[in-house]
Amino acid sequence: MSQNLNAKLNELVSTYSVLYTKLHNYHWYVSGPSFFTLHDKFEELYNETTANLDELAERILSRDAKPVATLREHLEQSLIAEAEGKETAEQMVGTIVADFKTIMNALNETMSIAGEEGDDRTEDMLNAMYQSIEKHTWMLNAYLGESVSAQ
Ligand SMILES: [Fe+2]
Repeated sequence: MSQNLNAKLNELVSTYSVLYTKLHNYHWYVSGPSFFTLHDKFEELYNETTANLDELAERILSRDAKPVATLREHLEQSLIAEAEGKETAEQMVGTIVADFKTIMNALNETMSIAGEEGDDRTEDMLNAMYQSIEKHTWMLNAYLGESVSAQ
């Protein structure tokens, strides 16, 4: 049981690590009329990503387990793909929205497992990450001109 939670947390560590590099890629290579807006937004997001990455890894250590800490393992275990290097500004935002949805699903699954184990601290930490990413997703969708589904 507990190993399952550690494995899920490590999957998130790897995913946030890939996201961190991907957001730098987009921060550096975004171009066009939205450059200034997106260049700054991607920086804000990678700063939050590295804070979350650190929090996840240190939570794993607090649970007496070992966080994944090599790029090779991060790439193997990540739930999201790296940047392709040819994305337009709009595609970058669309890709981040899709990645955030993947991460929200993983956060939800991991929260359920933490809940089953009675690990409230991990559950709270993941819930805070979920709320923040959910808000970013709304904003990025608004940027893309996509309305929130009425559900
Ligand atoms: Fe920069």
